[in-house]
Formats: sequence, structure tokens, C-alpha cells
Amino acid sequence: MHRLNNKRILLGITGGIAAYKSAELTRLLKTAGADVRVVLTPAAAEFITPLTMQALSGNPVHQHLLDPEAEAGMGHIELARWADLIMVAPASADFMARLSNGMGNDLLTTLCLATDTSIALAPAMNQSMWRDLRTQENSNRLEQLGMKILGPGIGDQACGDTGPGRMLEPSELAEHCAKYFKTEELSGRHLVITAGPTREAIDPVRYISNHSSGKMGYALAEAAIEAGASVSLISGPVSLSPPERCKLISVTSAQEMLSASLAALDSCNIFIAAAAVADYRPADFAEQKIKKNSEEMGITLVRNPDIVATVSSHDQRPFTVGFAAETEQVVIYARGKLKRKNLDMIVANDVAQEGIGFNSDDNAVTVVTANSELTIPQTSKSQLARRLIALIAEAYENSER
Ligand code: C5P
Repeated sequence: MHRLNNKRILLGITGGIAAYKSAELTRLLKTAGADVRVVLTPAAAEFITPLTMQALSGNPVHQHLLDPEAEAGMGHIELARWADLIMVAPASADFMARLSNGMGNDLLTTLCLATDTSIALAPAMNQSMWRDLRTQENSNRLEQLGMKILGPGIGDQACGDTGPGRMLEPSELAEHCAKYFKTEELSGRHLVITAGPTREAIDPVRYISNHSSGKMGYALAEAAIEAGASVSLISGPVSLSPPERCKLISVTSAQEMLSASLAALDSCNIFIAAAAVADYRPADFAEQKIKKNSEEMGITLVRNPDIVATVSSHDQRPFTVGFAAETEQVVIYARGKLKRKNLDMIVANDVAQEGIGFNSDDNAVTVVTANSELTIPQTSKSQLARRLIALIAEAYENSER
């Protein structure tokens, strides 16, 4: 269940007596570390109060599509993008019918239409309603559209009937949520990932650095662990907690990052350079704090080693992936860097675009290899990391090694 740590789960609740079980599901997901936001349909709000769900999720509850106040907080498109997984539990016959017909006549159906993320449904209804041919057709159609139908279970029902239509238990649904974040694409592989900025010391109290938050590298480490890899995360100074089960190697300067990277190459299959390495460092380190004795001062800088290029030209060359932050002609420059640095893949992003890249939670990239180019539109860094890890795993398996 640790796989749910920091995962963003949008829990949709539709009208049905099983809605009371969604309170427990919320609690379980929260305990497992997930960030949960609840969307209630009008019918669901007849069964369980927004206040209960707000208290359990720790987040405001979303109820209406056309609510200017809610839209000002987190608009529906933003909410659809926010989610790593949408779980609708319970999913009523009416909701499934509307969703399978592509309707967007309330907040929850609209979110399901607007999202790129996975959707799971836990149907709950009277056994005759579940057996009804139309419900069965709707359920099959939703599966064909790529949604996962969890259950329903068979047994006693609130209405006194016995048969299929019970919502799966909250603990089973929480397990299903966790499974969404686990693949075996990188099972048995060792990944080394550099992340964050480096700091180049001027004197004991001053340094040169940059604004890199480390979010992309940390999200990649998390996604690689989910994909079954063992991960060494070589990180410059950041204020993020490392993912569980990764080996964190904390470094400060580019030279330290290079040494740590070379030391980790022994068993490394894939090297991902997501760090924003300072290009230059002061030529001299002043042992004592420099005094402000003059109106002007100069610092002579010397080039830092190129870590990813050093790794890619090493005898034990792993499959090597770099990043390129550009402000213009993004793909052209990235392609040049791919060649110059002898990389297998480069992930290019346009840092001139607002709301993505450095220090932000979102990113949009173009993944470039010697003979391919794939654009991934703006999404959260954690979702992007999962897409990138899947692409890297596939390219690694197809590479001749
Ligand atoms: O040359 P540029 O800094 O644009 O290249 C970016 C890519 O190279 C990133 O993958 C970054 O982590 C890596 N890099 C490096 N060592 C450096 C500079 C950049 O590994 N000194």
C-alpha cells in the first residue's frame, strides 16, 4: 500500500446506499499516504454529507460543474489533470449509463471525459439492475473504452435481495488503487537518476546555484520504483523527501555528483540525468568568508564536468537519458544535444512556456531519440514521469545491448 504515497486519487461518489462505505475507503487511502479529493454527484449527497467527506479527505468536496467559487479554487479541467487515478465508488447504473454515452451533464461525468488518467469504477446496485441487459452493455462498453470495472461482489443487498451488485469492500478497492501504480516493466533493472541543482561554493557561506526543485528527478525515481526497478537517486540539495525504497545519495557540487554517478555505474542499466548541474564553478574556494572591501569584485569561473556526457562515453556505458531545457527551437537544439552528448534519448522542454518546467508541478515535453519524436502534452510531473519511465523501459528493451 506504500505505493499510494503522494498519489492523487479523485474519488467520485454517486448515489447509492454503498456510499457510506466510501467514507472508509477515503480513510484507507489517506492512511496509505494518498492525497484524496472527493466529487459527489447530487444523488450521492443524499446518502453521505459533503462535510463528512471533507473531514475525512482533508480537502474541499467538489459537487457542482457550474459553481464559480469552486471553479476559482480548482477548476474542473485542473481537477481532471490533477488526478493520478479516478475511482468512482459506488458507481450507480445511472452514472454508468451516462458515462458510457459520453455525457458530461454533471461534474463527475465531465471530469471523466476531460481526464487522460486511468478510471476505475466499482458498480453497486440492486442485482436486477446489474443484470439488466442495458447495464451490462454499458459496463462492457466502459471496459472497451479502457476503464476498469471492479466487481461487483455477490451477496446480501441492502434492499433484501441476494445476488451480484454489492460494492467491493473498501479494503479491496484500496488494494486495486495501489495496483494501478505498479508495473514490472523495469523489474531487475538498476536505475541511476541525478536530480536537483548543484551548489558551487564560493566561500564557506556563499555559493552559485539555480532554481531547480528536483521534482522531475524525484518523480522519475518514484515511477521507476513503481515499475519494479532498484533506484539510486543522486540528489543535489532540495527540500523533497526521497521516495521509499530508493537509495538516496546526497551531494552538493557537480564534482561530487560526477564522482557519485561514476561510482554507481557498476551495476547501472539506465542512467537518467535530470539534474540541473551548474555549468561553472568558482576557480578558487576561499577558505575564509570573503570580506566586502571593494565596490566591485569578480569571481573567475571554470567549466564543470559534463556528467551525462562522461557517463555516456564510459566503458560501462548504460542506456543514457538526458534532459534539455530550451527557450526556442526546442527539438532542434535537443537533437543536437542528443548527438553531442552521445545519448540514447533526450527529454526536451520549452522553459519559455508559462506553468511548466523549472520549479513547477507540471511539465510538457518532447521525447527525442535518433529516429523518433513524441510530444507529451502538459500534465503533472508524476504522471509525466510514469509515461517517461514506460517509454524509457521500452526503448531500453529494444536497444541492442
Ligand atoms: O548542456 P545542458 O546543460 O543543456 O544539458 C542538459 C543535460 O545534461 C541534462 O540531462 C543535465 O542533467 C545534463 N548535464 C550534466 N552535467 C552537466 C551539465 C548538464 O549531466 N555539467
